[in-house]
Amino acid sequence: MNPLATQYLGLQLANPLIAGASPLSRNLDHARRLEDAGIGALVMHSLFEEELIEEEETWLRFRDQAALGHAEADGFLPDHPGYRNALERYVEQLQRLKTALAVPVIASLNGVSRSGWLHHAQALEAAGADALELNVYYLAASPAESGTEVEQRYLDLVAALKSHVRIPFAVKLSPQFSALPHFVRRIEGEGAGGLVLFNRFYQPDIDIDTLSLVHRPTLSHPGDALLALHWIAMLRGRTTISLAAGGGVKSAAELAKLLLVGADAVQVVGALLAHGPERVAEILAGLLGWMSVHEFESISQIRGSLSEARISDPGGYERVHYREVLDGWRSARGVWR
Ligand SMILES: Cc1cc2nc3c(=O)[nH]c(=O)nc-3n(C[C@H](O)[C@H](O)[C@H](O)COP(=O)(O)O)c2cc1C
Repeated sequence: MNPLATQYLGLQLANPLIAGASPLSRNLDHARRLEDAGIGALVMHSLFEEELIEEEETWLRFRDQAALGHAEADGFLPDHPGYRNALERYVEQLQRLKTALAVPVIASLNGVSRSGWLHHAQALEAAGADALELNVYYLAASPAESGTEVEQRYLDLVAALKSHVRIPFAVKLSPQFSALPHFVRRIEGEGAGGLVLFNRFYQPDIDIDTLSLVHRPTLSHPGDALLALHWIAMLRGRTTISLAAGGGVKSAAELAKLLLVGADAVQVVGALLAHGPERVAEILAGLLGWMSVHEFESISQIRGSLSEARISDPGGYERVHYREVLDGWRSARGVWR
């Protein structure tokens, strides 16, 4: 029996380590090397709402102009045999990945608006995606928009996606919701099969010499995994949908901790970009070593054993922890003599 076998979004995975959405899925060789190193599943780079809408609008504008004054307008539309729009390019890459890999491939849709772009999810399902990830990277910048309206935007997107596809999908969420367990319950009610906790927000930086904005991804560090750790510990036992953790996973230690609090799967990106596919094998070997020391025989034995619902001092995930951290501060020797 494979001790690392697990399930995520109803999919059978050989292990819980997933390559999260990143440019690595753009390159077939990179994807194969991730599979050879033992990755449990692969999430594709996102297909963006903006790309889908822009191309649709361009095509409609072009068609309307071409149609002006021509009764048989369709016949005048130029044929561009080699041209592929964003959706077609994405679908082709998905098909290539599905042909090359045995592990599940999860396609990623990224957008925020309630317009009809999500119907394109059907093309991804038809192309063989095993599941989908919906990344709603929404910044609530308007003072006129309330938290309730922001949540409704997400719920509408989830309901729309549910109405278009039959394959399971997860929603990649921001950590910035005021009442996450309640919101998660509503997302579950709209038909999402899982959650990815959390989306990493890339804040722009400022260059103080040129007085301009700097757009550069800041890579995560292991401490970032505590955010997902905390919320998954609280959510496990309050929801039955799949929970994937992401952000700050660099080694077997983060993977083990996130499984202990209740993650079904754990996503990794930055460590793979920085260290290559070998990091997958290292993390999995580290997990197996840790399991043997602690006499865990399966992932299901580990999963959730330190979730809030299962530990003897559940307050440790809530205000008790907060007070202990503040009370426990001690000055470094010699600093505040
Ligand atoms: C270069 C780069 C590209 C990314 N592209 C996507 C993307 O297309 N869609 C998406 O949902 N997340 C994307 N992400 C975010 C990652 O999937 C992940 O959420 C984030 O990197 C945190 O995980 P980590 O700490 O393991 O890096 C990208 C991250 C990086 C660094």
